[in-house]
Amino acid sequence: MSEKHKVTVTVNGKEHSLEVEPRQLLVHALRDELGLTGTHIGCDTSQCGACTVQMDGKAVKSCTTLTVQAQGRSVTTVEGLGDMSRLHAVQEGFWEKHGLQCGFCTPGVMMTAASLLEENPHPSEQEIREGLEGVICRCTGYQNIVRAIQYAADKSERSSEEVVTARTGSDK
Ligand code: FES
Ligand code: FES
Repeated sequence: MSEKHKVTVTVNGKEHSLEVEPRQLLVHALRDELGLTGTHIGCDTSQCGACTVQMDGKAVKSCTTLTVQAQGRSVTTVEGLGDMSRLHAVQEGFWEKHGLQCGFCTPGVMMTAASLLEENPHPSEQEIREGLEGVICRCTGYQNIVRAIQYAADKSERSSEEVVTARTGSDK
């Protein structure tokens, strides 16, 4: 058996110390060691995107990321994106625009979309479709997923306008 490595990683804001084999994949650490089963395994070969999480804010495929590569990093899974009392804008978009179908790909799509919007808060429809190229949904034409992400982008825009209005108001 290969020697284990100690890895300290922050997942959804909570620090964890894990003893892992050097070959262990991050998706297995998340699912099997931490019980975060919202991150799914579809292809295991970096093609479908079902396993997408954020590492230091960037979307990564956890089926082709080693747990040891997460040493000292901050990982966010779909469980850390939002919750029922405070949905992430992308989650709200899926709710409002019926982006959810069978749901298997949805966590990976949401994590990809959240990263896309962090990099480009006002994407065009074309940019959204290009941003989704690394995730495969087997049961849809993507139209409602694209609408859900447009909703999330519009919502972020509305929120920043409200902040500006509130600031302007308080300056008076
Ligand atoms: S399971 Fe990772 S990309 Fe498909
Ligand atoms: S919602 Fe079914 S695979 Fe995407």
